[in-house]
Amino acid sequence: MLAMNFRGPFRVRIDRKPYPEILHPEDAIVRVTRSCICGSDLHLYHGLVPDTRVGMTFGHEFTGIVEEVGSDVTKLKVGDHVMVPFNIACGTCSFCKQELYGNCHESNPEATAVGGIFGYSHTAGGFDGGQAEFVRVPYANVGPTVIPPEMDLDDAVLLTDVVPTGYQAAEMGGIKVGDTVVVFGAGPVGIMAAKCSWLFGADRVIIIDHLEYRLEFAKKYAQCEAYNFRSLGDPVLFLKKTTDYFGADVCIDAVGAEAAGNAIQTILGRKTLLQGGSTTALHWAINGVKKGGIVSIVGVYGPTGALVPVGNIVNKGLTIRANQASVARLMPRLIDHVLSGRINPKEIITHRIPLEEVSEAYHIFSAKRDNCIKTVLIPPRAA
Ligand SMILES: NC(=O)c1ccc[n+]([C@@H]2O[C@H](COP(=O)([O-])OP(=O)(O)OC[C@H]3O[C@@H](n4cnc5c(N)ncnc54)[C@H](O)[C@@H]3O)[C@@H](O)[C@H]2O)c1
Ligand SMILES: [Zn+2]
Ligand SMILES: [Zn+2]
Repeated sequence: MLAMNFRGPFRVRIDRKPYPEILHPEDAIVRVTRSCICGSDLHLYHGLVPDTRVGMTFGHEFTGIVEEVGSDVTKLKVGDHVMVPFNIACGTCSFCKQELYGNCHESNPEATAVGGIFGYSHTAGGFDGGQAEFVRVPYANVGPTVIPPEMDLDDAVLLTDVVPTGYQAAEMGGIKVGDTVVVFGAGPVGIMAAKCSWLFGADRVIIIDHLEYRLEFAKKYAQCEAYNFRSLGDPVLFLKKTTDYFGADVCIDAVGAEAAGNAIQTILGRKTLLQGGSTTALHWAINGVKKGGIVSIVGVYGPTGALVPVGNIVNKGLTIRANQASVARLMPRLIDHVLSGRINPKEIITHRIPLEEVSEAYHIFSAKRDNCIKTVLIPPRAA
């Protein structure tokens, strides 16, 4: 079968790989129909995620048709068209029982933090991902959800990661009616977080980035205010001035380890890897939120330590909430939001690229070329 193949930082290509096999009675084999490239894939592509092995297939945001099921799979049958959450979760461990599907204790024996994730290095379990024609889906009774017949496939694929992540970013912010919410990052995740903030009752939503085309899109799509941090001077001072010097009620970090905007952070976190990512956006979030406010972090950082202004967290009495999105927990309510038209995920898709051109697709998304926001890869037999 055709599959994306990681050859080292900034080098991916399409290759032939063996067809995946059922390895456990709860496995399913899925023929992929859509597969996205996520901002998280860029951390792998840029060589920032520990134990990303040459030969791995990325892709954790996909839909597909069930081709084969193991003997213990009861929830799915051959021919079902499913959305597969990016988290791999057993459904029965103490963390899954709390619906912390991103923190499953069984699916990733290598780590005590993150659970298994499709196509996300051996740090996240070493599973091959969905940027391929076929993929093995473990614990098939737990994660996959049959796509409602009235749902567009392009909406469905975005329900496997970016929509739940944006929604959970807003949810973790504990947004109350009347709140001012600031979202750092106008990538797909930040745009979705801004959009979802309104669903929780926000009164004012501000998004901050430095890519004008994304800010323009966010302004229209999420009906929010949008500012370029390059022209704000000090983004924290700007946020104070625009909130009567209180600060925002909620700040969301939808940027993560590869944040731009501060040369020292970039050197420590991206060039020399002396810390687990550049924490520039996180600094702005912590310093730009009001006393007693909430900082919600969905941006991904490495496992090693990183400089954050912990004194300000303590002295301002902040609440920090963070996690990988728990996709399976949110799926039912997000299906409802999409089918009722409150969220229109597919509008963020700017690029549909054949799987065979995966190398070019990564380059376009990584370099933010061609006004790229969200890229969907289409395998040859998926049309
Ligand atoms: N927690 C989860 O479950 C989860 C799921 C999906 C993605 N993520 C993470 O969310 C983050 C965003 O994902 P994405 O797909 O939107 O990625 P993306 O790379 O497309 O978007 C990131 C955006 O942040 C902007 N940016 C850079 N520095 C900034 C700064 N200092 N302030 C404000 N904006 C800045 C970039 O210009 C870019 O538009 C990534 O770290 C990704 O790994 C987390
Ligand atoms: Zn992702
Ligand atoms: Zn579990």
